Amino acid sequence: MSARRIGRRVSANMELDRDRLREILAAEHSFYSSGRAIARIDDRFNPGTRDFLAGRVKSGMRVLDIGCGNGGTFLRLSESSESGFGVDNDPAHICMAEDGLRENGAANVEFRLLDFLEDGDALEPESFDFAFTERGPIGYGGHGMRVALRALKPGGTLFCEMFGNLHHQEQADLFGVNQPRYQMIRTLEKARVAMERNGVDIRVAADILQKRYYPDIYEWLKFQCSIWMWTGSSFPAPDDVRLAMFAERNATESGEIETTHHVVWVAGVKIPMRSGGAGSDGSRRT
Ligand SMILES: C[S@@+](CC[C@H](N)C(=O)[O-])C[C@H]1O[C@@H](n2cnc3c(N)ncnc32)[C@H](O)[C@@H]1O
Repeated sequence: MSARRIGRRVSANMELDRDRLREILAAEHSFYSSGRAIARIDDRFNPGTRDFLAGRVKSGMRVLDIGCGNGGTFLRLSESSESGFGVDNDPAHICMAEDGLRENGAANVEFRLLDFLEDGDALEPESFDFAFTERGPIGYGGHGMRVALRALKPGGTLFCEMFGNLHHQEQADLFGVNQPRYQMIRTLEKARVAMERNGVDIRVAADILQKRYYPDIYEWLKFQCSIWMWTGSSFPAPDDVRLAMFAERNATESGEIETTHHVVWVAGVKIPMRSGGAGSDGSRRT
């Protein structure tokens, strides 16, 4: 893309190392390769998902992790729960989770390859005390929510972390890619509606914001490539002028690249079904 098409002038002193960009763009990327990019996190006022969940999972609980990824969060929670399992639809992630389980040695948990939206109904109904997802497949609509609630015991708790609308907004400004699947209305409102309509008494509804700092545009690009790969977005060419524009727009005085990390938390308690009386639409049974 040319600078003229974007309608902004790129300053001549923002010279990027094309060979380095080419090398990063040509490398193998996966969701978890993002962990290798160097980043500094400013998480003041941010409770941290793992710590928050760890405080809510109690001994004796049966726990379900929907979209467990490499199992990092779930294995940590297994220290305080009775049993449970993590599911993910990516075989590579389940392999990583199983490797983690072998290292951790926890006997009370397992990981299963499962597309939760397609096959989640195969889980035993009302068999979990606590179900959660950390930016996994549920929260964005009614179907996933119903499948999750089906697996949860009445009175059980459900926690959904989702990408917020401001997540990677600096990247979205220039490259136009920001989880387009999930951008219909404000994420928090969407999740609230999906929960309320499906019988959850909401107890947490929050926007959580962090700032992330990469030492330079190259470390940021390593991270971003893993996200573009994950979202199925096309990569820019090494000479794409937007890379220099991104560096210019988002560099701090010290030269770090500053980005926004925005997630939404919505959590609550599954309301036990009442028999008879008014239906959820206010209609009366005859
Ligand atoms: C942000 S990652 C989870 C991070 C994880 N909790 C950890 O500790 O690193 C979200 C996960 O949801 C999984 N996922 C997405 N859609 C899914 C689906 N339909 N069924 C099951 N898992 C899904 C992805 O493969 C990915 O591993």
